[in-house]
Amino acid sequence: MSNKITAAITAVGGFVPEDRLTNFDLEKMVDTNDEWIRTRTGISERRILKGPGLATSDMIAPAVKQLCQKRGIDPMEIDCLIVATVTPDMFFPSTANLACDKIGAKNAFGFDLAAACSGFLYALTTGAAFIESGRYKKVVVAGGDKMSAIVDYTDRSTSIIFGDGAAAVLLEPDTNGYGVLDSILKSDGSGCHYLHMKAGGSLRPASIETVTNKQHYIYQEGQAVFKFAVKGMADVSAELLERNNLTGDDIAWLVPHQANKRIIDATAQRMGLSSEKVMLNIQKFGNTTAGTIPLCLWEWENQLKKGDNLVFAAFGGGFTWGATLVKWAYQKN
Ligand code: UT7
Repeated sequence: MSNKITAAITAVGGFVPEDRLTNFDLEKMVDTNDEWIRTRTGISERRILKGPGLATSDMIAPAVKQLCQKRGIDPMEIDCLIVATVTPDMFFPSTANLACDKIGAKNAFGFDLAAACSGFLYALTTGAAFIESGRYKKVVVAGGDKMSAIVDYTDRSTSIIFGDGAAAVLLEPDTNGYGVLDSILKSDGSGCHYLHMKAGGSLRPASIETVTNKQHYIYQEGQAVFKFAVKGMADVSAELLERNNLTGDDIAWLVPHQANKRIIDATAQRMGLSSEKVMLNIQKFGNTTAGTIPLCLWEWENQLKKGDNLVFAAFGGGFTWGATLVKWAYQKN
């Protein structure tokens, strides 16, 4: 037992919408085919949040509610909710505020954090610092996106990749060395060119022209992003291992951002990890942006053992990228 406070993950909650958009559905919408999508990305289907009045907070709220039920706490006990997202319900108020209201987390302050696909790692590192400071006891870090709100379903290069979903983790103080142990976060704004949404912000406020020119959708130069992602995610994960004197043998699980199976394979290979140690659910959910990493934890929670070393790794729009080392703090079975 040491006096150092670390931020342990003590519960996970998640939410994916019921509606599925399969590769075969997409074959009817754009010039693509199931085989191309599966071999180039690893994706077979994605979930889509359908229905009037439903937004990102409607996925964050049930994920946080579930986490509270699992941990046996009342939402009133939450000190802070950080939501990583690039598809907030509105510019303001924050999605975190709206989600807190929906679940009755009346004692929490909340805010959104935008770092695209690396959002969950940025938010986790921020939330962990709140716990490490000794000031807060229950910080919820959520990641989720309703990507279907900003996908052009006539564009075959982006519509095949993205899906909707959200998940959240609870952080609590620990003095036995469990939780978030290290994080390397990076960003490079010059990468904006390759992956962005052109309009809707203060640079190009929404207008008839921006709508006509389809500038409220994701713009991605896939091949260029792919090259940066393979290098960025693998480099930062290797750097994290090295600076903590760890090798692939010490790692129980790689929890990678789910953007493309080929990027994930390259990262695992660079870390010396076999595929059995890699969480992969891209085939079912596609790329849910800030949702991917916590959705993996949500699905694999029952297999995680107390003391497991986990590396979370991501690369995405911004560019933003990073890797986080976590010692898992509990065991379900
Ligand atoms: O999470 C945020 C960060 N984003 C990423 O990490 C995404 C990184 N990029 C990627 O995952 C890949 O670049 C994509 C999946 C987006 C595209 O895969 P790619 O292997 O880079 O394909 P490409 O863009 O180089 O296109 C190869 C060919 C082209 O045809 P030609 O010019 O060789 O005849 C494309 O027109 O495949 C064609 N193509 C398609 N064919 C069938 C592009 N999209 C499709 C499609 N279906 N959906």
